[in-house]
Amino acid sequence: MSETAHFEVSRRAVLAGGAASVGISAIPSVAEGAAPMTDQPPKMAVTFKINGKAQALMLDTRTTLLDALRDHVGLMGTKKGCDHGQCGACTVLVNGTRINSCLSLAVMHEGDAVTTIEGLGTPEDLHPMQAAFVKHDGFQCGYCTPGQICSAVAVLEEIKAGIPSHVQGDVSGTPEMTVLEMRERMSGNICRCGAYSNIAEAMAEVAGVRIAETHEAKMRDGEVRA
Ligand code: FES
Ligand code: FES
Repeated sequence: MSETAHFEVSRRAVLAGGAASVGISAIPSVAEGAAPMTDQPPKMAVTFKINGKAQALMLDTRTTLLDALRDHVGLMGTKKGCDHGQCGACTVLVNGTRINSCLSLAVMHEGDAVTTIEGLGTPEDLHPMQAAFVKHDGFQCGYCTPGQICSAVAVLEEIKAGIPSHVQGDVSGTPEMTVLEMRERMSGNICRCGAYSNIAEAMAEVAGVRIAETHEAKMRDGEVRA
């Protein structure tokens, strides 16, 4: 085949392909006959308990639990950090278990009991973990703190319940209430201010664990001065 003939064939093929694609785009949409699209997103009713109080909401089904708490219930204590499940700032307790509320749709929590930082204690009557964070300076800017405290409360319960972790030597055994164990379990809660050692001290106090390596303990033991 000459080069000219080849070009002609190729050109015909291209034109034929173009005509076919025009034909395909002219085929009626398979969506025809389906319910007409509207500008309104689908909504759904959800009823749950938040900090012991029943809440009935009508929500866009895409609303996260975090946004429901902050934007629909007005509880601003739970913080939005990354909104991608990476920082833990949005940690709340659902039926006693900690979750990242930015990763969970609100409508999935029908009938659940949600506890946020506002439900753990009040300024007049702090939860022991809140009081320990204050005592040990477990924060600087405080942005991550509500999530840290909710997570810390749940971590102690997880260890008591015998839920295993990666740092536990024998995963078939019972985890021990150690600082290493607590630190591992808190690894999903990021603190940009780096208050980690003070958070560990606060948790240890609530758990009744002595941290030999803490500055406070070293001062007590006379190893360092204030
Ligand atoms: Fe949910 Fe960061 S805001 S994990
Ligand atoms: Fe500032 Fe943790 S106290 S991010």
